[in-house]
Amino acid sequence: MTKLIVIIDGHEIETSAEGGSTTILEAARLAGIYIPTLCHHPSLEAYGSCRLCTVQIVKNGRKKLVTACNFPLEDGLIVNTCTQEIMEIRRMIMELLLARCPQEKRLQEMAGEYGVIKPRFLPQDKNCILCGLCYRVCEELVGVAAINAQNRGVTRDVDTPYGQLSEECIACGACALVCPTNSIFERKNIYPLTSIDIKEMEEEFLCGANDDDLGVNREMLAAKSSVEGQDGGMVTSILQRGIETGLLDGAIVAQKDERLGAKAALVDEAASILQAKGTKYVRVSVIAPLLEALEKGKRRIAVVGTPCQMRTVRKLQRQGYFQERFSDAQIFLIGLFCFESFDYESLKSRVIELFGIDLDRSEKMQIARGKFIIAAEGKEYSCRVRDLGDAVRAGCGFCGDLVSRLADISIGSIGSEDGYSTVIVRSEQGERLLNAAQFDRKGINREDIAKLAAIKKKNADGNFAGIVAGLTERMEAEGNVGAQSSAECRNSGILS
Ligand code: FES
Repeated sequence: MTKLIVIIDGHEIETSAEGGSTTILEAARLAGIYIPTLCHHPSLEAYGSCRLCTVQIVKNGRKKLVTACNFPLEDGLIVNTCTQEIMEIRRMIMELLLARCPQEKRLQEMAGEYGVIKPRFLPQDKNCILCGLCYRVCEELVGVAAINAQNRGVTRDVDTPYGQLSEECIACGACALVCPTNSIFERKNIYPLTSIDIKEMEEEFLCGANDDDLGVNREMLAAKSSVEGQDGGMVTSILQRGIETGLLDGAIVAQKDERLGAKAALVDEAASILQAKGTKYVRVSVIAPLLEALEKGKRRIAVVGTPCQMRTVRKLQRQGYFQERFSDAQIFLIGLFCFESFDYESLKSRVIELFGIDLDRSEKMQIARGKFIIAAEGKEYSCRVRDLGDAVRAGCGFCGDLVSRLADISIGSIGSEDGYSTVIVRSEQGERLLNAAQFDRKGINREDIAKLAAIKKKNADGNFAGIVAGLTERMEAEGNVGAQSSAECRNSGILS
């Protein structure tokens, strides 16, 4: 391990840097020296966009300004974090940021530390400071990249590609967690949900007893319909009967597709529902086909999807997105139990590798008790889900919802004996769907579902812990030494 000695604000600090990975900011924080930051998060690649962490370095007798968050330590480096020039730079940055976001409380406080109360520049009415934390966490940690920076100069902003409603966003809320100004909640085409939002949506859309592990429910049962196929065939049966009885005009379901493997499309005839039977375990776009169906004049539409898709559609419903355009629309959410979904192309390659069979020609795919089961040409093949490796879709590790807690009715295989589907009814709409179907019923094993739900939640909590730890580190740095450091600069006359 290479030992380095650096001098920060006159304090000699001994540290080590493997491959030059330790930055001035890290060394300063270890030594309790405060350098303000806005765009830095220790779990993300250094970005260097806000410039607030500007410090002065002295190297070979020459002075230079650098950003502390991404400048690698070098032996013998002299760093000054609190000179007149640096304070003026930070003051200017705060003035510019405050002019962009004059209502933003955190900026007002930070700017106040530098004596900036009213910026000299023309005020705008933004809340986003363009720190980039939201889209970097989405890409680098969650692995989804639903949003990114768009445009240049004063029109620079954060958005989805072409400003379209996102089909990629999994509503995990990681962007909301890191956004320092809460401006992420202003974006209408992604779905940054917090646990408070989820609670409020449960209250708005669902009605039943509260179960901490499995969500709001009116009834939980094991059910078997006359449909041959996956488990009790309840998704197919509910959709068929819904269309036959006129409760539904159609349903958005995943179907096999020659080119894409699977895609979601509107099915509006009871007989055609059978062709889409069988869970695909692949996340497909549901928002675009749902909007197309509404534009075609369909009004009572069921959407079948994964827990993350239930969250995204609910968020749009909560924003009044469908209601504003189609005031009489009624959307029924049928959520599947989902531990993780797959990227079709990666899964296809993995299945060829493992079993030598073509996924496009499979007759059935199923996940049960940690096993991936596939049937093709009359034979059944299986492996552990974990053996599918990279085929698991990015982002699933940040979803803690096994049982589609925001659906009107949730359906899966866990908790029921073979040949039955577990059904959780969560709303009056869900109850109407179930009552229209014909099936045999049995009891479920609630504990089996709760156990797996807890594992999924624990995995997601573990992944979020890294993000939270980084935020805590920043808050501690600001809370413990920030005020003290500002006071020192003020006493020395650098800050007025
Ligand atoms: Fe270093 Fe933003 S540039 S924290």
